[in-house]
Amino acid sequence: MKLKKLKIGRTELSGNLLLAPMADVTNLAFRLLCRRYGADLTYTEMINVDALLNESRKSFIKGLSSEEDRPFGVQLVGGCPDKLKRAALFIEEEYRPEIIDVNMGCPARCITGAGCGSALLNSPELVYSIILELTESLDTPVSAKIRLLGREEKTLEIARLIEKAGASAVTVHGRTAAQMYSGNSNLEGIRAVKNELSIPVIANGDVKDEESAERTLELTGCDGLMIGRAAMGNPFIFKKIRHYLETGEKLGADKPFRQLEDFNSYISLLEEHNLLSSINLRMHAHWFTKGLRGSRHVREKINGLEDGKAITELIRSFCQEIY
Ligand SMILES: Cc1cc2nc3c(=O)[nH]c(=O)nc-3n(C[C@H](O)[C@H](O)[C@H](O)COP(=O)(O)O)c2cc1C
Repeated sequence: MKLKKLKIGRTELSGNLLLAPMADVTNLAFRLLCRRYGADLTYTEMINVDALLNESRKSFIKGLSSEEDRPFGVQLVGGCPDKLKRAALFIEEEYRPEIIDVNMGCPARCITGAGCGSALLNSPELVYSIILELTESLDTPVSAKIRLLGREEKTLEIARLIEKAGASAVTVHGRTAAQMYSGNSNLEGIRAVKNELSIPVIANGDVKDEESAERTLELTGCDGLMIGRAAMGNPFIFKKIRHYLETGEKLGADKPFRQLEDFNSYISLLEEHNLLSSINLRMHAHWFTKGLRGSRHVREKINGLEDGKAITELIRSFCQEIY
């Protein structure tokens, strides 16, 4: 049995499979769906602290979480310790998440240009101040999500500072910022961080099936796995990997149209939480129909539709045709 119970801060999770924070993907409805399939901890999309601290823009945070959405982490992106602290205190008060994570890995120019995301990794002292400011002010455990640096000793220096400042966990995506998403996740690089720290280290990058999950756990020695892209349109991946890590066996053949059924459940959750109008449903529909027999036809139809309601009706009628 390779599924272990990961403890982050005060929270003992029922396993060690985490849903990665993903902008435009991990909204409340998607997180709830992944949870149904066995994600042990899910993270919100990154939240920009400047937007959060701006009274007139704050409304975007409505519907961030709900009672069933537990345990969950909120990820913040920012570069100023004081602003991060104020934003985190607001989140703590409003939502009481199990963990507050700082994005130190995003390589997008619009984020690094403002000195945030992976740009922070070039300033070890700032990384230390940010984590210290948060751990000293918050009751909520704090974590950081980093990428590897070009030189291993630099990565380890950052990791040590994050731990020293009081963080409860670190997630490592095994690529450098310059790599963006090219190449493979460097499992040895992640392992070096795991070997250096005493707090839990979570491995991230390229986990897409049972084998890659097992390999990543074995080769990195990490305490948990974080899954990103492979869950897009496919929350079922948590059940598959979980089952395999628990039993050593793979789940039998999938229902032919399970992805569509999942998309239907996803739409219901979006409706239930009033989120349908705030997401790009067409994009999500593409992910959920990827690889399905006959799905090109559905995607072509979706492309011609304007709003979420029409896409919802199309998918529902498609589901009815099938069942
Ligand atoms: C669409 C998309 C949005 C992402 N948004 C975030 C984000 O908000 N915060 C973050 O730390 N990482 C973000 N990431 C990176 C993922 O969390 C993860 O580190 C990366 O995709 C590697 O893991 P994977 O191979 O399992 O996808 C994003 C990735 C994708 C594909």
